[in-house]
Amino acid sequence: MNVHDSERMADLLVAQGHRATESPDDADIIVLNTCHIREKATEKLFSDIGRIEKRARTLNGGRVKPIIVAAGCVAQAEGGEIAARAPGVDVVVGPLAYHRLPALLDAARERGAGPAVIDTDMPAASKFGQLPERRATGASAFLTIQEGCDKFCTFCVVPYTRGPEVSRPAAALVAEAEALVASGAVEITLIGQNVNAWEDSRSGGGMDFAGLIRAVAAVPGLQRLRYTTSHPRDMNEALLRAHAEVAKLMPYLHLPVQSGSSRILKAMNRAHTRESYLATLAALRAVRADIAISGDFIVGFPGETDADFEDTLRIVHEVGYAQAYSFKYSPRPGTPAATMGEQVPEDVKDMRLARLQAAIGEEAQKFNTASIGRITTILLERQGRKPGQLIGKTPWLQSAVIEHASARIGDLVEIEIVDAFANSVAARVLAPVSVAA
Ligand code: 5AD
Ligand code: SF4
Repeated sequence: MNVHDSERMADLLVAQGHRATESPDDADIIVLNTCHIREKATEKLFSDIGRIEKRARTLNGGRVKPIIVAAGCVAQAEGGEIAARAPGVDVVVGPLAYHRLPALLDAARERGAGPAVIDTDMPAASKFGQLPERRATGASAFLTIQEGCDKFCTFCVVPYTRGPEVSRPAAALVAEAEALVASGAVEITLIGQNVNAWEDSRSGGGMDFAGLIRAVAAVPGLQRLRYTTSHPRDMNEALLRAHAEVAKLMPYLHLPVQSGSSRILKAMNRAHTRESYLATLAALRAVRADIAISGDFIVGFPGETDADFEDTLRIVHEVGYAQAYSFKYSPRPGTPAATMGEQVPEDVKDMRLARLQAAIGEEAQKFNTASIGRITTILLERQGRKPGQLIGKTPWLQSAVIEHASARIGDLVEIEIVDAFANSVAARVLAPVSVAA
């Protein structure tokens, strides 16, 4: 979501006549987009600001500091503190208000030695209608379908920084998907904090998330469709059917579980249990056997015992994750878990994280090894580390490395998977299929 928000802020500035620089050293405006989900983000922001100020350029005999914008969820949560502690920051803008960036920059230019311009409103009117029209910048594009969260997991700041769940209307989303495909996208990833909670009814229509998937998949020229992130609570029958029936919907699901212990899940206010999560995946695999499962995990949530943690290790092997993200619990100010008793010591968190990551790595290696011999298509995304290497994504979101002289980024290429590692696979090109017009 933050990568996408950064792109949208760049689109806005380009529409104002600015252009992106190769290096921050050459920039007149620097936007620092921030994430508040775990600690240290605030300290990182302050050290980045310090570094930028030190590097102020010398022009016409004077030092020139670029305009510095602090954006994103750290700005939303700690705008006042940022303005007080970092006088070099000119604008503070939250994730729901960044469409106002041009006016905020104008105000900042006028501010002289005055205080930073702060906009951490959560406006009722959506920012989306006020952003420049979408154009794809590559073969793969993000499309925000909903924002915010009403779930209030006890560890999480998102409901406070991104506000309540808001769904964008289906017609606007299909139009945006068409614009993305017309400007070169062959893959679209529908994004939101809770994509599968998307409901058109919130904006007066009758479509559910599975319906939206079908509507976007019907856009001619689109080849691949993905979505992230989903909540286990909102996985329904219609969505499972879409995975079985919509050919463009890629066989990959990122479904965070957070813990394998139902006791901890309850304390986390996750509204699912170990059993209900496993039942959802079993139902999905019954209709789409090859689906790759990804997840998020937190170790060291308050009160997590060795036995709870063993349940988490077991669920990793039971699910057989193709990949997963794992984090040490980080207390967030203002969230219920931050003040719960039985906080887990840091060294215990470190040990559990290392064991969890080893278990995830083992399963990822197994998943990749099982795919050796598969003939499939990859969408090329970037250069590899070695000359002549290109990296693309398989339908199961594996990074596949190929060596090919004439294939280009953005091409869909037919390959065979020939070798497997924990974080990637090696592939042999069967036939390049250019999608560039
Ligand atoms: N500490 C550690 N990890 C967290 N996440 C969210 N809040 C916290 C926290 N306080 C993780 C969850 C979520 C992912 C995006 O970040 O696993 O799914
Ligand atoms: Fe945070 Fe839970 Fe909402 Fe996800 S569902 S954004 S973890 S509160």
